[in-house]
Amino acid sequence: MADIFADNAEAMYDSYGRHLHYLRVSLTDACNLRCIYCMPEDIVFRSQATLLQADEILTLVRVAASLGVDKIRLTGGEPTVRRGVVDLVRGIRTVPGIRRIAMTTNGIRLAELAGPLVAAGLDQVNISIDSLDPTKFRRITRRGDLTDVWRGIEAAETAGLRPLKLNCVVTRGFNDLEVADLARLTLDHPWHVRFIEMMPLGKVADFQQSQVVPSAETRARIEAELGPLTLAPEHDGHDPARPYRLAGALGQLGFISSVTEPFCEGCTRLRLTADGKLRLCLLRDDEVDLLTPLRAGADFAALRRIVAEAAFRKPWGHRLEEHDIAMSREMSQIGG
Ligand code: 5AD
Ligand code: SF4
Repeated sequence: MADIFADNAEAMYDSYGRHLHYLRVSLTDACNLRCIYCMPEDIVFRSQATLLQADEILTLVRVAASLGVDKIRLTGGEPTVRRGVVDLVRGIRTVPGIRRIAMTTNGIRLAELAGPLVAAGLDQVNISIDSLDPTKFRRITRRGDLTDVWRGIEAAETAGLRPLKLNCVVTRGFNDLEVADLARLTLDHPWHVRFIEMMPLGKVADFQQSQVVPSAETRARIEAELGPLTLAPEHDGHDPARPYRLAGALGQLGFISSVTEPFCEGCTRLRLTADGKLRLCLLRDDEVDLLTPLRAGADFAALRRIVAEAAFRKPWGHRLEEHDIAMSREMSQIGG
């Protein structure tokens, strides 16, 4: 029988036959905002010394790429608060096999960083914007200034980061009545506005579960205010959201329904946490330590084997229907 963990394997599959070729890399658990659905208010961030160093991240990206990973997304916490983020992008750009580098960011620092990031090789950003009202935005983020995000969005456009995707986590009582206003942005801009169902994880799970808004409700509210949505023809294979369009709109809308319509079957992802663990599923606590073997001097072939074996054991999906909530980390410590 073929050894599925053979040193020369060029693709990773899990035990369900899913082809894993997309790695989300969390650069830090720290953030310059404190969104209510992402972390408890009194969260304490890790010290820099406990995080993967830049050269360690690059080694693990090379390992992943040698196993067929072709897309990297940099996440956090907030990836732009990590020192050296531009150099890291430049380093990842040189790794053979990596075809796309994306980032999920709150946009606060993009006004200064979008240009340098693109010059270093960044292809795409998803920017979080949960409200168009400065007061509501501050209430959701516990400290953010919406003006900074707008400046970041402009900078991303100017720098040529396309398609520009805007993420909105819908939270009952905070921005659920505003979703049509956010959707309206796609009328005049070629942006993809995506509404994300809030997922429960860690210490804020009770809040997340009590304030979750099902995608069907968000969609119905948008259609009631702005008219029917039609399916857009384009579909990016990595995107769990099927794209929709408002009549006459330049941009698209998406609904990411992780809770009510899980897309585990099509999952191609693995996640690397900032403290060097390979997390196999966002909403399950199964992780494999890469930091320890890396610092103990494991060579490239050994690391490949550890990663490929871990990937094979990726769990099928979440177990929210069984009220099984992953508790070992907050969303901010994984990067969504
Ligand atoms: N449920 C869904 N998405 C979340 N994010 C943060 N916390 C949650 C949650 N509980 C999203 C952010 C951002 C990305 C980092 O993860 O809005 O788009
Ligand atoms: Fe920071 Fe993003 Fe979490 Fe908000 S959602 S606290 S911006 S990591």
